[in-house]
Amino acid sequence: MKKKVIIDVDTGIDDAMALSYAVHSPDLEVCGVTTTFGNISVEEATRNTLQVLELVKAGDIPVYQGASKPLVRELKEKAKLFHGENGLGNIELPLPSGAPQAMSAAAYIVSATEAHPHEITLVTVGSMTNLALAIMAAPQIVSLVKRVVVMGGAVTVPGNRTPVAEANICADPEAASFVFQSGIPLTLVGLDVTMQTLLTREHLQQWRERDTKVSRFFADMCEVYMDAYAKVGNVRGCGLHDPLAVGVVIDPTFVKAVPMHVQVDTSGSASDARTIGDRRENPAFPPNIDVCLEVDHERFVRHFLEFVM
Ligand code: RIB
Ligand code: CA
Repeated sequence: MKKKVIIDVDTGIDDAMALSYAVHSPDLEVCGVTTTFGNISVEEATRNTLQVLELVKAGDIPVYQGASKPLVRELKEKAKLFHGENGLGNIELPLPSGAPQAMSAAAYIVSATEAHPHEITLVTVGSMTNLALAIMAAPQIVSLVKRVVVMGGAVTVPGNRTPVAEANICADPEAASFVFQSGIPLTLVGLDVTMQTLLTREHLQQWRERDTKVSRFFADMCEVYMDAYAKVGNVRGCGLHDPLAVGVVIDPTFVKAVPMHVQVDTSGSASDARTIGDRRENPAFPPNIDVCLEVDHERFVRHFLEFVM
């Protein structure tokens, strides 16, 4: 039986790859896609999501627009350097013919989880605001959701938005902190593992040779993403952040996860938005999250390339 998933996105180049990978995976049923702010505004995320789903012939999957700003803070700047002005590396797609559903993202997360108790895995690959709002509105979903797989955090490695913090947690630290403390079953797919799963320029060359509308779009977009990675560090390609979170739902053996107590720094100081994992032999609190610390990157990247388009 296919695993039912809802994907919560701030579409984004790697979000676009994650969506395409999920809809083509024979193991997943994408019940709906919810949108949030992060790489770009929520309105742009919704437009990009509709465009990408239509491009990969999955325009029938319902899209629900979500939060436009963090729970308590001001909205941060868009991630233009990595994702371009439009979020898709400035590569243009036709305007979507479909539109988002009337229901909000948080309301959809609640209703789908209640309609399919213990069956839905939620994959969050942007700010965690929609999930926080859903839990605040309907705390019972904490025990009704099958699992939440979060692309976010950096427990044992440096951050990417600040020296210690990862972009999705930075987008709304209070939302992440609230969800981490909620008791919902969580798997954290952070930079600890996503920076080991790289797409390279050789992969893009294979997509160019395939020469389809979809493969050219992904190659052009990822070229921009890789140029940004090359500017900020010595990375040979780009991190497959959001696709790995989808991969972990498809096959949890792509990673090794360790149960850990993790808290989010919301101090507003230099360590703000850091995901602090208690890795001591005798931690002060029981584990609240399974943190992915190792990844079989070759096997995952092979699987991703087979199903992404
Ligand atoms: O840190 C990587 C994450 O931040 C990815 O989800 C990317 O799309 C951005 O949202
Ligand atoms: Ca994302």
